[in-house]
Amino acid sequence: MNGQQDGAQRDRFPKAVSTQAEEFSRRLETMGQSRLAAAAQAAVQGLHALITELRPSSDEFRQAIDFLTEVGHYADARRQEWVLLADVMGMSSLIEDQNSPRPHGATPNTVAGPFYRSDVPEMPLGGNISRDRKGELLEVTGRVVALAGEGLGGAVVEVWQANAEGLYENQEPDRQPEFNLRGRFRTDSQGHFRFTTVKPKGYSLPSDGPVGQLMSALGLGLERPAHLHFRVSADGFETLTTHIFDRSDPAIDRDAIFGVKPELMAEFRLLPPNGGKRTYALDLNLVLCPQRRDEQPLGGDDRWHVSAATTT
Ligand code: BEZ
Ligand code: FE
Repeated sequence: MNGQQDGAQRDRFPKAVSTQAEEFSRRLETMGQSRLAAAAQAAVQGLHALITELRPSSDEFRQAIDFLTEVGHYADARRQEWVLLADVMGMSSLIEDQNSPRPHGATPNTVAGPFYRSDVPEMPLGGNISRDRKGELLEVTGRVVALAGEGLGGAVVEVWQANAEGLYENQEPDRQPEFNLRGRFRTDSQGHFRFTTVKPKGYSLPSDGPVGQLMSALGLGLERPAHLHFRVSADGFETLTTHIFDRSDPAIDRDAIFGVKPELMAEFRLLPPNGGKRTYALDLNLVLCPQRRDEQPLGGDDRWHVSAATTT
C-alpha cells in the first residue's frame, strides 16, 4: 500500500485505542474498502474504547457474554429480543431519526413497532374501529396536510392502537376480535378524516426476558405512554409512520423506546358528560413532506414479539 492510500485509510479509521484494535485495522486495510469493513472497524474501535475505559474483569466479561447468549435464546420468530434491546437502548429510534429526517413543521417519523398489520380493510370515514366496544370512547378528527398547509385529499390513513388494557389485538388473538382497534381510512377532498375508537392505555414492554432483567437491574422502566399509531400515505409525499401520545400519561417523560417528541404529544380532551359513556376527543394535523427520490417502499416490521400468524 502506498503512502497516499495509507493516509486515506488513516482518515477513514480514527486512531485506535489499543494495539489489538490497531492491528485489526491494519489487517482490514488489505481487504479494500467496503461498508462491512468500515462497520467492523468502527465496532472494534468502540468496543475497545469501552474495554479500555471500564477495564472489565474476566468474570464481568463472562457475564456480558452470558447476557448476549440469553438474548439470543429469547429471540425466535414470535419474539425478537434483539430488537427489544435495540429499542430500549434508543438505537431503533436514532436509526429512524437518521433515515427519515423531516423538515421543520412536518410531523416527525417514528418506528412502526411490532404490532402493525398492513391487511386491514378500508372503512368509511366516521367508522368505529373498536370492534368489541370495550373502553372509554375517543372521537378522533384530523387532517392530512402538506407542509404549506393545504389539505391532501385521497390520502390513506392507517391507525392501530392498544386497547383500554394496553394490549394489541395480535397479542391476544383469542380475546380480541380480528382487526380490533385497527382502521384504514381515505381522507376527503380537503384532507379530513375522522373515526371513533376507545382511549388506549399505556403498556409495558416484556419484562420476562434478559432485556427486562437488565432494565430492572439498571432501575429503568419499560413503560410506553398511551398512544395511537398512524401511517399516512399520499402520492408524491413521503409515507409518514408516527405515534400520537396522550400528554397526560404519567409515563410521558420516560417512554422506554424514546419515541415521544413534543410535536407528537396531544391532549385527549374529556368532553362534557352527555349521559352516556365517558368520551374524549382528539384532534390532529398530520403534516407530510414531499417524497425524497430515494424513498423505499415500506413493509411491516419484523420485530420482537408479535404473533407470527399476524405479522405482515
Ligand atoms: C409499539 O408502540 O407498538 C412499539 C414500538 C416499538 C417497540 C415496541 C412497541
Ligand atoms: Fe404501540
